[in-house]
Amino acid sequence: MRADYATLHKTIKALTEGETDEVALMATVACELHHSDDRFDWTGFYRVTAPEVLKIGPYQGLHGCLVIPFSRGVCGAAARTGEVQLVPNVDDFPGHIACASSTRSEIVLPVRNEDGQVIGVLDIDSNQLDAFTQEDAEQLTAILTEVFGGQGSVPQIGV
Ligand code: SME
Repeated sequence: MRADYATLHKTIKALTEGETDEVALMATVACELHHSDDRFDWTGFYRVTAPEVLKIGPYQGLHGCLVIPFSRGVCGAAARTGEVQLVPNVDDFPGHIACASSTRSEIVLPVRNEDGQVIGVLDIDSNQLDAFTQEDAEQLTAILTEVFGGQGSVPQIGV
């Protein structure tokens, strides 16, 4: 089963409409994404809870590491650079943090609030090699912008 992003986007939008609590939003997004696609073996968020520190947030899958500094791992790289990290083979990523030895590839996306600040990252891990595509990066970014970005992520004219 592959994610049907059009339906997924609509469902997540409907479920999260009017909610502003970040943990409630993250829990809902993690659940909906995780069960939509067989490639997704671990799906969850790390939140920025202190300067340069990521702490585990809502997730689905086996247990994840609790704390990741910005300086470490794929999650740290996404938080530090503000850019999507698409890793086809985790063995080729220096400093990859192996929470599960079964993970072969992963995608990590920064999560921004309406002011454009990185408030966390979305990490999806797969037991399949080279599981993720540019299409996944684009569709997941669109969902995150919809849920966490609010109006502030749309360029404002005249303000
Ligand atoms: N692989 C991630 C760590 C998080 S877990 O796999 C859940 C990383 O290198 O940042």
